[in-house]
Amino acid sequence: MSDLLAALDSLRERLDEIPQADERRLQELKTELLGRKAGALTEILKALPGLEPDERKRVGGAANALKRELERAIDAREASLKQSATNLSGVDLTLPGRRQWGGGLHLVTQVVDEICDIFRELGFTRVTGSEAETERYNFYALNFPKDHPALDAQDSFYLGGDVLLRTHTSPVQIHTLETYPPPIRIVVPGRCYRRDPFDASHSPVFEQIEGFAVDDGISFVDFKATLAAWARRFFSPQTKVRFRPSYFPFTEPSAEMDVQCQICAGSGCAACKQTGWMEILGSGMVHPAVLENCKVDSEKYTGFAWGMGPERIAMLRHGIPDIRVFFDSDVRFLEQFIGKEESGVRSQDLESDGPAPESRLLTP
Ligand code: DAH
Repeated sequence: MSDLLAALDSLRERLDEIPQADERRLQELKTELLGRKAGALTEILKALPGLEPDERKRVGGAANALKRELERAIDAREASLKQSATNLSGVDLTLPGRRQWGGGLHLVTQVVDEICDIFRELGFTRVTGSEAETERYNFYALNFPKDHPALDAQDSFYLGGDVLLRTHTSPVQIHTLETYPPPIRIVVPGRCYRRDPFDASHSPVFEQIEGFAVDDGISFVDFKATLAAWARRFFSPQTKVRFRPSYFPFTEPSAEMDVQCQICAGSGCAACKQTGWMEILGSGMVHPAVLENCKVDSEKYTGFAWGMGPERIAMLRHGIPDIRVFFDSDVRFLEQFIGKEESGVRSQDLESDGPAPESRLLTP
């Protein structure tokens, strides 16, 4: 008899399955438990007549109680399945599906990646640096004179003492020179900060890409040819470039590089203020003082450097009149630039380990 009671107990555990069953499973459970021919509970009930009267009473009572519970649970589940089927009747199953939301890289990120990829083919490694720097790295080791206006707290964001948010990516030149012996060829994308107004052409937070090459025997020819080769890859093979003399404390000679206006192809338009040229970057041959400040022999080694603004380059390329759109996070603007390369990056992300990781220069 105790066998039958134990069997009833384990059947009772099956009650839990009922509220989770779908329609098909519910029918199966019904047959398995209550089926007229071979239902588990039916089998127990069939055994009752062979029992002693008081056993019959106890087992029969328990079996009938469980039967009622099972029936009640099954009825309730049937009703709720029916209810959700009716709820679905208002749904038009022929409606086309909603387009899946596809995220993408920000236009400026795409431009940064594209620029760095071209320089990678020219032998430059992509590295990053810290956004907080000391005055030594941000200014002095880069040969800024002590009274340079950029050192003024009004021009820069000081965090306390002589620590400030870097105003350019050039401090990574110093970290690199202090950490690695030449030959050095790096590109350094990253955020920079200045106390500038937030208007159509300025932002207090902006992106820069620093380029830096130091080696034995680097000449002005290497400098011009490298930047011109990049411009022809980035813009178009026919793009003309020109270098105009300029001044930066950390380069000598210094030059501003212009590319032919991408909007009017050089004939003159409002975007290039009728000059036919657009200023793209600041550059020059590494000043010997910078090398010496990092204990690199400036008699043996020479180099070139440049700094460019990817936001500005993206604006010139796409005719975007206002830098602020890059910070507004307006999807209607941003989604226009989810391009081919973009989806390539994403599938690569999923399929492999993703794009080559950036190596990070550790500040010694
Ligand atoms: N650091 C400069 C700036 O933010 C840009 C720059 C100019 C970087 C010339 C360079 C360079 O490496 O050679 O205005």
